[in-house]
Amino acid sequence: MEETKKLYFGTNTKMYKTIADTTKFIEELVEATHDISPEQARLFVIPSFTALAEAQKKLNDSNIMLGAQNMCWEDEGEYTGEISPVMLKEIGIDIVEIGHSERRHVFGETDYQVKKKVEVAIRHGMTALLCIGETKEQKDCNIQDEILSIQLKTALSSIKSTDADKLLWIAYEPVWAIGVNGTPISKSYATKRHKHIRSVLVDILGEETGCSIPVLYGGSVNMDNARILLSDPNINGLFVGRSAWEAKNFNKMLRHILEI
Ligand code: PGA
Repeated sequence: MEETKKLYFGTNTKMYKTIADTTKFIEELVEATHDISPEQARLFVIPSFTALAEAQKKLNDSNIMLGAQNMCWEDEGEYTGEISPVMLKEIGIDIVEIGHSERRHVFGETDYQVKKKVEVAIRHGMTALLCIGETKEQKDCNIQDEILSIQLKTALSSIKSTDADKLLWIAYEPVWAIGVNGTPISKSYATKRHKHIRSVLVDILGEETGCSIPVLYGGSVNMDNARILLSDPNINGLFVGRSAWEAKNFNKMLRHILEI
């Protein structure tokens, strides 16, 4: 994908920030990034459910999009403890993160559940941020591309190109690279996987849509590797954890990438 590159840049704060923490983080972020236009960078923040309503108020007139970390695949029903797409729409959520490694590996989410969530997010007009990635064991067996193909093909089997075109983002996040015990990825490994992901997207959705879907990289992104990773034309953005949980670090990394 050689066309003009738009940057996607955001963070999922996992289960770390209270409502008060999130509000402070977002206030600082809005202030720090107010001069960045959506054409320069599509910025997004994905806080905990309890902080979403407050976060939405703070982000209302900003260029920062708001996401939820998970969602049920049904609009309503006997699903104690779940949050439905209708509830997220009511708050004004733009993005739903689906199939993050911790959802899949700590909470046992399956490819099939992920597929249903992607479909329902798109049906409700929210951007599905589909997270995919292989485990260390799968990488060691050299089946990473097969795993990525299965995750993508399952999740997108019923998605129309016309919907994907507007409402689908992918985050490639190898499980072994995520979190404090994660190993930062090498540029060459990331390049191979992103090329593979792009070819699978083209395979499923056709050349035009397959090439237009933003594919972000996530997993131990930091100031040292952010620009290196983005020099790959198939990496359209960064999905950052720990290194972006302070507004000043988020802003510093963003400006470092944009070279401003
Ligand atoms: P990390 O988290 O940047 O802290 O490794 C990434 C993620 O889980 O999305």
